[in-house]
Order: sequence, then C-alpha cells, then structure tokens
Amino acid sequence: MTITRIGIVGAGTMGGGIATATAQAGVEVLLTDAKPGAAAAAVDLAGTFFARSVEKGRLSQDEADAARQRMHVVGSIDALADVDLVIEAVFEDMALKTDVLAKIASAVRPDTLIGTNTSCLRVSELAKAVTQPERFLGLHYFSPAQVNPIVEVVRGEQTADAAVALALEFTQRTGKQPLACKDQWGFCINRFFCPYTNEAARLVDEGLGTPGEIDLVAKEAVGAAAGPFQVMNIVKPRINLHAIRNLAPLGAFYTPARSMAVTGDAETSWTIDPAGDIDPAKADLIRDRLRAGTFLPVLQELDEGVAGPAEIDHGAREALKFGKPPCALMDRLGRAEVERLIVPLCSKYGYQLPKSLDRVGSLIST
Ligand SMILES: NC(=O)c1ccc[n+]([C@@H]2O[C@H](COP(=O)([O-])OP(=O)(O)OC[C@H]3O[C@@H](n4cnc5c(N)ncnc54)[C@H](O)[C@@H]3O)[C@@H](O)[C@H]2O)c1
Repeated sequence: MTITRIGIVGAGTMGGGIATATAQAGVEVLLTDAKPGAAAAAVDLAGTFFARSVEKGRLSQDEADAARQRMHVVGSIDALADVDLVIEAVFEDMALKTDVLAKIASAVRPDTLIGTNTSCLRVSELAKAVTQPERFLGLHYFSPAQVNPIVEVVRGEQTADAAVALALEFTQRTGKQPLACKDQWGFCINRFFCPYTNEAARLVDEGLGTPGEIDLVAKEAVGAAAGPFQVMNIVKPRINLHAIRNLAPLGAFYTPARSMAVTGDAETSWTIDPAGDIDPAKADLIRDRLRAGTFLPVLQELDEGVAGPAEIDHGAREALKFGKPPCALMDRLGRAEVERLIVPLCSKYGYQLPKSLDRVGSLIST
C-alpha cells in the first residue's frame, strides 16, 4: 500500500502542524476535531504558514494553493473510513485516547495504519484499544511539526514489521527524518533530554549555579544554541515536568528535582538572569553534571535497545539542536572519562554501570 490520503483526529498544535507538513508534501489530509471550528482554524493557520513560505521564496503560489486544497475538514471520525493512515493527536489522556483509538479502529479499513502522537503514554498499552493492533504504532512528531524534521516511529509489542516499514516510508516521503525506536518510557529523545533538564534543576536546588550560569555552561557542554532553562521556558515547564514524571518507572534518577516540580506545578517560568564571568571550577562542575545527566540515560537506553547510537545522535542534532550529540561526544571523551562522570550518579541512585559503557570509543563508528 502507498499512503496517499490520511486522517488526523485532534487538530490542535500538533495535529494542525502534522497536517500542514503532510499536505505540503503532496498527501491529502482529512482533519477532524471534537471542538467546533478547531479543524477549520487549523486549516486557516496552515494557509497563513503557506503564505509566509511563499513570501520567503520557499514555495511558489501554485504549490501553496495546492497544499491548502489538499486539506479538508470533516465532521467526525466516521468520515475517515477510506484513508490509508490515521494519526491520533488528541489531548494526552489515556482514557480519552483509548476511546478515540477504538472509534478510529472501527471506522477505518482493516489494513489502515493507525498512529498515535502520544509523547508519554505506552504505545503497547494504547494498542489494547485497537483491533488488529499489528497495524498500530507511535508516530511521535516534534514541535513545531510544520518544520521540525524528527518523527519517532515507535514499535509497540504487537506492531508488525510491515507497519513500521510503511510508517518509515511515509514519514520519509513527506519530508521527515524518522527515528525507529522501541516502546520505552521517553522513547529515544525524551529519555535523555528530560534528565538533562532535570540535572540542570538539581544544580539549582543544590546551590551550585543559577539558571543563567547553567544555561551558559550548557551551551558549551552540549553545543546547544539555547540552554536547558531557556528551552524549558519555550516548551513550558509544566509540560516538561509532565514528561519527566512519566519517566518515574525508570528509577530514582528520573524523579523530578524539587525546583522542577515547584516551577512546573505552579505553571510559572524559570527566571533566567544573564550570567557574568563564571569561576572555572564552578563551570567544570556544572559541565560534568549536565554531561553525566545526559550520558547515563543514553547508555541505559542503549543497553535496553530502545534506539541505536546513530538514531540517538541524529535526534539530538535535529530535534534538540545539540551541536555535540551524546554518543559522538562520549566517543571523543573516552570510556574512562565517561565512567568518571556517571559513577556518582550510579552510586547515588542505585544503578549498575551500563554495559554499553564498554562500547564508548566506538559507538558511532560501529
Ligand atoms: N505540544 C507539543 O509540543 C507536543 C509534542 C509532541 C507530541 N505531543 C502530543 O500530541 C498530542 C496533542 O497535543 P497538542 O499539543 O497538539 O494538544 P492541543 O491541546 O493543542 O490539541 C488537542 C486537540 O484535540 C482535540 N480533541 C480532544 N478530544 C477530542 C476528541 N474526542 N476527538 C477529536 N478531537 C479531540 C482538542 O479539541 C484539541 O484541538 C498529545 O498526545 C501530546 O502529548 C505534543
């Protein structure tokens, strides 16, 4: 099967963005949302996005018009009976998603691929709502989905090889860069991005740096354009906290830092005062902790086979804009240095040293 028509259920931030990117890539998109007017508003927003792309010379007027015409508002899930793929992008709520997925599965053809854009729920749990669960998987687009190239293609316990292959082909053909990964808490990228931000918040809790100082050091430590606190303020601390809380089954290292919980629960933002000169010893300590907080979960996810070094680094580079992605950085620093960095975290939180530590030095070249 070639996917030429898709349905999107939930036309909010993500559903609208996915629809925009997919229509621009030449695929017909049927959009539905429970809130009256929401799907039409998403199509209007896409029209504005296409118009801006024309102004910037990225699209011709004809291409913009054609993309806009490929987007169609439909009244209900039943109108998706004959699409090749449905992407569910409703609120992050297990009961709601279960209900919506069951409705999708009974409305579409038995061979229609069904994807969920969940960030935090288990694909294998959601699969219980879907008849023929072998055609169901995670399609985790990153925000803003109009332009962010990364999509995690998440294989649930029952997902068939053919469904993964179809999803990889579709996402590539529609201009995205899919990362195949296993259904584990945090998938490939949040698994280490959330702990990296959490370690930054722990440094604040321990009085070892201010958000401004930590952001400054982080830019050099991982080669990012923006530090963790700046990024959290963009993503919203409440959403970041929710993603971290979801990692709790992975053990004590993944529990939210005190200031992370306070800031997220209060739905406020981090105050980031610009940093002046930082004492070199203090900068070293901050750099070590941020790198350790990233390397430990990366090595653990390698041990668990969630994703490979190439996928992890590709995601870090493209979705997070890390100029020094973690596997290549660990290779460069070497095994002894990586061990020195992560041993304190392993001791403090009660983890064995990850087996993948032995691969450091040749993670990316193997
Ligand atoms: N916002 C992000 O940065 C981001 C990134 C990746 C993944 N996600 C995930 O994408 C999903 C959607 O998130 P969002 O940020 O787009 O949310 P959103 O609140 O912007 O949009 C959700 C939409 O779902 C609609 N909806 C609710 N119940 C519905 C139903 N029964 N039938 C049809 N539509 C219904 C709502 O009216 C709303 O328009 C969530 O699972 C979220 O975790 C979000």
